[in-house]
Amino acid sequence: MEEKAQIILNGKTYEFPVVAGTENEKAIDISQLRSKTSYITLDSGFANTGACTSAITFLDGEKGILRYRGIPIEKIAEKSTFVETAYLLIQGELPTKVQLEKFAHSFTRHAALHKDMLKFFDGYPAAGHPMGLLSAMACSLSGYYPELLKADSSEEEIELMAAQLLSKVRTISAYIYKRTLNQPFIPPRDDLKYIPNFLHMMFSAPQKDYKIEETVVSALQTLLILHADHEQNCSTSAVRLVGSSRANLYASVSAGVCALWGPLHGGANQEVVEMLEEIHKEKGNIHKFIEMAKDPKGNYRLMGFGHRVYKNYDPRARIIKERTYALFDKLGIHDPLLEIAVKLEEAVLKDDYFVQRKLYPNVDFYSGLIYKAIGIPTNMFPVMFAIGRMPGWIAHWKEMKGDPQTRLGRPRQIYMGPTQRSYISMEERP
Ligand code: CMC
Repeated sequence: MEEKAQIILNGKTYEFPVVAGTENEKAIDISQLRSKTSYITLDSGFANTGACTSAITFLDGEKGILRYRGIPIEKIAEKSTFVETAYLLIQGELPTKVQLEKFAHSFTRHAALHKDMLKFFDGYPAAGHPMGLLSAMACSLSGYYPELLKADSSEEEIELMAAQLLSKVRTISAYIYKRTLNQPFIPPRDDLKYIPNFLHMMFSAPQKDYKIEETVVSALQTLLILHADHEQNCSTSAVRLVGSSRANLYASVSAGVCALWGPLHGGANQEVVEMLEEIHKEKGNIHKFIEMAKDPKGNYRLMGFGHRVYKNYDPRARIIKERTYALFDKLGIHDPLLEIAVKLEEAVLKDDYFVQRKLYPNVDFYSGLIYKAIGIPTNMFPVMFAIGRMPGWIAHWKEMKGDPQTRLGRPRQIYMGPTQRSYISMEERP
């Protein structure tokens, strides 16, 4: 029997269709709610609102499942590369050898920045946060590639734009880092793959090439793959909302960078390491911080714990934790922050406050320790997240553009301000 939902308002019953996803997730389709009843729904933080249907990522937060285009994240993290994962997310299928080579080749061709773009970096304060510059640079790419801004881009053109954007964002990010250090830019090299090229641009100096370690490449590869998409999170929803006005891809992903910057979202990785450093300064007193987070009078939170969707261990956090140990072992690193992190996690997982609220470590809890071990400074952590999330943003922008159901994103509100009142002239005001 076809499932229907009923809403009774003032004694009158209204019926609404139920939509089921391929994994049997259910939604009440209320698209006719206002026209039928004149009511709207109120759902702060959109915690119960589906804004679209999507075939990109499946996530079951209760069971701790995450799949890109149907493939479990654990398998992708083990077997794939970031470039292949980007292709999978954007195009929907794993590439053939030829398709992958072509895609990767576009990355090489488009790695360099237009020489005029380099002037932008000089105008930004070296001490300014890298995310501000990343967002501005991503958006300003639109000015340099007007030929790609067509409303009716073909599949081929979108694939090219995706590769170009993914490649340039990596170069922009490395140059932002150099700008923060007031050091000269190191241009990309044609003979290096995606991640080695990034490490080269970040850490080489004019007279001295950075030694690229396979262990470091592999750890970074895993992190970028794990960040590549996470369905309708805050930044992806921002990309979709901006894109729904038919804004171009560069403008839409630039909005994604801004949304990601916040400490409750992609900025959390920076905050986690800063929190661990503070705990370290306090001689490892994790309990003080746990009590602060539990205090109902304060608004302090343990960064790297909790998630809107995961009410179970975040599968990405599990993989990153294993990777952190492996990297530290191979590089012979001893970081007291890792010990603090492990102790904090153990204590949190036993603490009633966190257990009752189903607060587990999330993707940002251990990722910062890997970035730190590689030599990436804390203010660049959200930039790393943005490089990783770029394929997801592009995939969602593309999906939204091709979806006949897409309408201009425009939520409603319930007005709680003053009702009509008179304008009081300046002379009459107290
Ligand atoms: N520390 C202490 N208490 C917490 C935390 C935390 N990290 N997270 C949630 N809570 C409590 C919160 O105070 C509330 O308690 P109560 O019911 O007594 O009022 C309850 O748990 C539910 O919290 P919420 O804010 O309603 O949950 P949410 O789904 O709106 O928030 C979150 C999700 C990620 C914003 C939140 O867990 C948080 O602020 N975590 C810390 C920041 C963080 O690590 N963010 C990265 C998220 S993963 C990367 C990404 O995808 O962005």
